[in-house]
Amino acid sequence: MTTWNLEGNQHHVLMCNGSSCMRKGGEEVTQAIREEITARNMDEVVHTSRTRCNGRCKGACVVIVYPEGAWYEEVDVDLARKIVGEHLENGQVVEHALSYVTTEKGMEPRNNRTVGIDKVKEPSC
Ligand code: FES
Repeated sequence: MTTWNLEGNQHHVLMCNGSSCMRKGGEEVTQAIREEITARNMDEVVHTSRTRCNGRCKGACVVIVYPEGAWYEEVDVDLARKIVGEHLENGQVVEHALSYVTTEKGMEPRNNRTVGIDKVKEPSC
């Protein structure tokens, strides 16, 4: 059991470790993100968490970065390292790999990714 002091952290990275993402290299993506953060001496400003399924399995591997609310899909090891360098270190979201980004209007889709199933159902009569 670990309790980290998160004061001063600038980003929280959620790395999907659900079954679909793990079948598409989720462990390698997780390790690549953590290795790259350490290599760039960013362990004290970036917190990472493994998660279960984030509900976007067709886009495996899924990686999510807060506070931007940037949802990345089809993340492989190379893209994982790029997210750390461009987004976490330099503050430039990797636009072409986004599926959603959070704006003042809420989550907005990007890059024509799989739309998926509507969560709001029509009321039955
Ligand atoms: S297992 Fe990663 S989004 Fe479902």
